[in-house]
Amino acid sequence: MLHLVTLKDWSQEQILDTIALAQKIKAAPEKYQDALHRRVLVMIFEKPSLRTRVSFETGMAQMGGHAIFYDMSASPLGAGKENIHDTVKTVSRYADLIMARLFEHEKIEEMVRHAEIPVINGLTNYAHPCQILGDLLTIREHKGGLRGLTLAYFGDAHNNVTHSLLFACPRVGMNIRVASPPTEEFMPAEDVLADARQAAERTGATVEVTSDPTAAVQGADVVYTDSWMSYHIPKEQLDRRVKALMPFQVNSELMQHAPDAVFMNCLPALRGYEQTAEVIDGRQSVVFDQAENRLHIQKAIMIRLVQESGRKTP
Ligand code: CP
Ligand code: NVA
Repeated sequence: MLHLVTLKDWSQEQILDTIALAQKIKAAPEKYQDALHRRVLVMIFEKPSLRTRVSFETGMAQMGGHAIFYDMSASPLGAGKENIHDTVKTVSRYADLIMARLFEHEKIEEMVRHAEIPVINGLTNYAHPCQILGDLLTIREHKGGLRGLTLAYFGDAHNNVTHSLLFACPRVGMNIRVASPPTEEFMPAEDVLADARQAAERTGATVEVTSDPTAAVQGADVVYTDSWMSYHIPKEQLDRRVKALMPFQVNSELMQHAPDAVFMNCLPALRGYEQTAEVIDGRQSVVFDQAENRLHIQKAIMIRLVQESGRKTP
């Protein structure tokens, strides 16, 4: 059974085929209006969301299926009355797909072990694969391809978005540079870097980690940043994190070194923190194309996983 838990588990071919399918769907959505007729997606949310929730739900509606928003805090699972095993075994008897947005990555791995239907990671503290598949679609649209491009990431790199970029970029032949404070708290996890370097060897891409933002940005094709206060970070850490991360803010001065780059942020974003308003609202920003592409890529992900599961419509 094919799941989407991290892009580490997906091949270059699976990644590129899914992006190509999303491009086709985007170009002619009416052709896919019955692609998931009578299919049901259960979306388990332990954290907040705008884009992931609304794009999956809209995607299902536009393809003839139905999505159920299931707030974990109002579930027996969230109340500690039921375990993951019984939850996903039960949902597998009703639905065709599970999407879950959770804190601990281990919990989605546990879901996969027990589910009888495909499981999609809608974000954990460790990975955000749907986001990065959509981002590759956005990059391809703006840059005409992926292989040989250089993406430079700035800020908190010990997070789901950076990890998923590190899994994906080398797999599709893109170079990646990560600029963050040189501490374990902000650098990518070691296992992710090891995987990225291995993938890069296969495709000839490069993977660089630095604490020098000016070196990282030179001539980049894509400048990417993400929240300094991810959903799982407690508010009390704001002042300390802002102080540590401010040298990695994406501002006009930094962007001057990459005049042809597109600026990306998966959103939600805070102006004045990970990037200035001038950058996110400026000519290089493609953040709303990025947000839109979540819809097209979710459709492609769902079609593909349902098809590969072989499950018949009830
Ligand atoms: N980028 C993203 O996943 O946004 P949401 O948290 O709003 O879903
Ligand atoms: N790193 C961010 C991504 C939000 C889509 C977070 O986990 O909150």
